[in-house]
Amino acid sequence: MANAAELTVDGKSYSFPTLEGSEHEKAFDISNLRDQTGYVTLDRGYKNTGATQSGITFLDGEEGILRYRGYSIEDLASKASFLEVAYLLIYGELPTQDEFATFETAIRRHTLVNEDMRKIFDGFPVNAHPMAVLSSLVSAMSAFYPDSYDDTAEASTDQHIIRLMAKLPTIATWSYKRSLGHPINYPKNNLDYIPNFLNMMFALPVEDYKVDPVVAEALNVLLILHADHEQNCSTSTVRLVGSSKANLYSSISAGVSALWGPLHGGANQEVIEMLEEIKNGGGDVNKYIDMAKNAKTTGFRLFGFGHRVYKNFDPRARIIKKAADDVLAKLGVNDPVLEIAKGLEEAALNDEYFVSRKLYPNVDFYSGIIYRALGIPTNMFTVMFAIGRLPGWIAQWKEMREQKEPIGRPRQIYTGATLREFKSIEQR
Ligand code: ACO
Repeated sequence: MANAAELTVDGKSYSFPTLEGSEHEKAFDISNLRDQTGYVTLDRGYKNTGATQSGITFLDGEEGILRYRGYSIEDLASKASFLEVAYLLIYGELPTQDEFATFETAIRRHTLVNEDMRKIFDGFPVNAHPMAVLSSLVSAMSAFYPDSYDDTAEASTDQHIIRLMAKLPTIATWSYKRSLGHPINYPKNNLDYIPNFLNMMFALPVEDYKVDPVVAEALNVLLILHADHEQNCSTSTVRLVGSSKANLYSSISAGVSALWGPLHGGANQEVIEMLEEIKNGGGDVNKYIDMAKNAKTTGFRLFGFGHRVYKNFDPRARIIKKAADDVLAKLGVNDPVLEIAKGLEEAALNDEYFVSRKLYPNVDFYSGIIYRALGIPTNMFTVMFAIGRLPGWIAQWKEMREQKEPIGRPRQIYTGATLREFKSIEQR
């Protein structure tokens, strides 16, 4: 792109190169802005700031497009397995059969978690939120694999990637089992990735458990839909932490913490709690629409609605809405909350407040309804999101390292006190 951006400030003109991505996203390159002009930019919430150049995920919020490495989310969700998508995100290409077999076998062989991690886990209160446990135990993994601190050991990075992919589902199931007072289950490596997770969640020593293929397939779709979403809050966190050359486990643990917030991945738990509340209060969706419209005074937001980037529709929400209908029908589940969700969506989409602000259901508006139908408890919803997002975080961390990005370090506009004279405590 031959264009240059001209900036005139304090009577002087400056020129900044522009650049264009492979999908024609345009940017001003202001890497030298402060050096040249003495100014920085102010962009709260990074609404206009490209923090990196990335070849992993493309999304077009106006057109409702989402692609991983060039493949449409619709194709991947209907045709691929979650581990194939994980490989695609992390290594850039869909795996050949041999590559897939090697990747999958390696993950199968690393599902067991060091027994000493159990001792850490045993120190948590029984009712600890599973996201608190997850971020702590992922962080603890760095203590068990100290070679992860060695930034020059390229070869061992693959090993840490495999360990994380293999062990996250194992750790994730522990909190659930203990909240029920049930023994935790060890992984069974003759099972595939998703059935293995389901077995650890739901099997009991006293009876046989058979994984329902409908449940496994639904989970496969959900995990794929959550697998990456370019520079969102948790992914940016992973990249930022990793940019200090912090190891993979610490970086991913930070991502888990960022995901937990109710404005991000924690929204899936909030949605179902909100829908339950509406149902228990008699099903009056308009009351909640009105509360959300007065968000400034009520502080209430319609969870599962709105998105920083999607301003037309969230393609993941479309797939999930249809999947919710299919899965509930196949499992013979009749969840009244699904009807509440549909009523709420219809009321919002016909309301000027939501229309004018381009607020549409996001990925998590319907995901909780499916999780519930699969038997997954509400406080585990965000953990499910984390299992899905893990390959995306890993891919973004790896790309950031391979691109040798500098440490992330935003600027600020200082608005505090100017120089003041210190008075000793007796004089105050
Ligand atoms: N309910 C009611 N009003 C809303 C909602 C909502 N869910 N979302 C945004 N608005 C309103 C805001 O009050 C604001 O109104 P105003 O212009 O009158 O001040 C306007 O819409 C723009 O909202 P912002 O907060 O500026 O938009 P932003 O892009 O910063 O926020 C976000 C996006 C955080 C997702 C927001 O829509 C939200 O809080 N949604 C609910 C939480 C949620 O579902 N999060 C999950 C996101 S998807 C994910 O992370 C996987």
